[in-house]
Amino acid sequence: MSFAARPHEPQRPIWLCRACARPWPCPIARARLTIEYAADPVALHVYLGTVLQDAIDDLYRLNPQPGPDPAAMYARFLAWARPRLRMIGAYSPVVVGSAIPERLRWAVQTMDVAPGDHLLEIGCGTGVAISLVCDRLVDGTITAIDRSASAIRQAEQRNLRYVSTGRAVIRLGTLEDSDLDGERFDKIFAVNVNLFWVRSPARELAIVKRLLKPTGRLYLCYEPPGADRAAELAQRLPVVLAEHGFDSNTVTSTTTRSGSLLCVTGSVER
Ligand SMILES: C[S@@+](CC[C@H](N)C(=O)[O-])C[C@H]1O[C@@H](n2cnc3c(N)ncnc32)[C@H](O)[C@@H]1O
Repeated sequence: MSFAARPHEPQRPIWLCRACARPWPCPIARARLTIEYAADPVALHVYLGTVLQDAIDDLYRLNPQPGPDPAAMYARFLAWARPRLRMIGAYSPVVVGSAIPERLRWAVQTMDVAPGDHLLEIGCGTGVAISLVCDRLVDGTITAIDRSASAIRQAEQRNLRYVSTGRAVIRLGTLEDSDLDGERFDKIFAVNVNLFWVRSPARELAIVKRLLKPTGRLYLCYEPPGADRAAELAQRLPVVLAEHGFDSNTVTSTTTRSGSLLCVTGSVER
């Protein structure tokens, strides 16, 4: 790929833009994120909060003394977004929550949710996929977890009617610290959750194995920011799953704006 065609993505662990070498998010990355998340500003804040945490971890490891300045990191990764989104009217009640990202519709379709399925979502964010899943359930259930308290609040608010009937259970926490032992799921899924490929997910995949029913399946879905990253994930995730005893299968698609969609599914031979 030529230099000019490189997408404006972060290069880890230095967090400079791969295309223009400016501190990421560079002006073009900010513009792209603003447009992409115009319909769901809360999801953008949740995403940027996760990225901020990853960047602080990386930059601290590279240079622990003095380490990254928290105020500067906050300004660079998060503070820019609010005025931008306000400028384009993203916080207007008509816009907030009205659009459903294509990746989530696609993920739910790809899982072919059946009325009696019991599902677990890891990293539910603001809970849009929970609503889509619940619309398909009759006597099934979904349990959804996220490590971000603000995301969980939004997810609960969005899905009050499903939580009140017990169809959806929404919990704050990571997979490791969620007390789900004793429960068994037909489908476990995660959308745009990086933990399965940026580091070894050995502990998480061991838990997933325990939580899946014998016929159950894991779905790791992504809308990668560019074709390069999509190819990297398509290559890497099946290897990671195989290392932990999963047979895998990869499904791909594109969004209406020609973005890449990828779902790597895994099952365990018992
Ligand atoms: C980029 S957001 C995606 C949210 C949603 N799935 C979507 O596609 O819009 C990633 C979410 O995963 C959550 N997350 C990341 N690692 C996690 C972990 N180990 N356990 C639970 N949640 C996690 C983050 O808090 C964040 O809400």
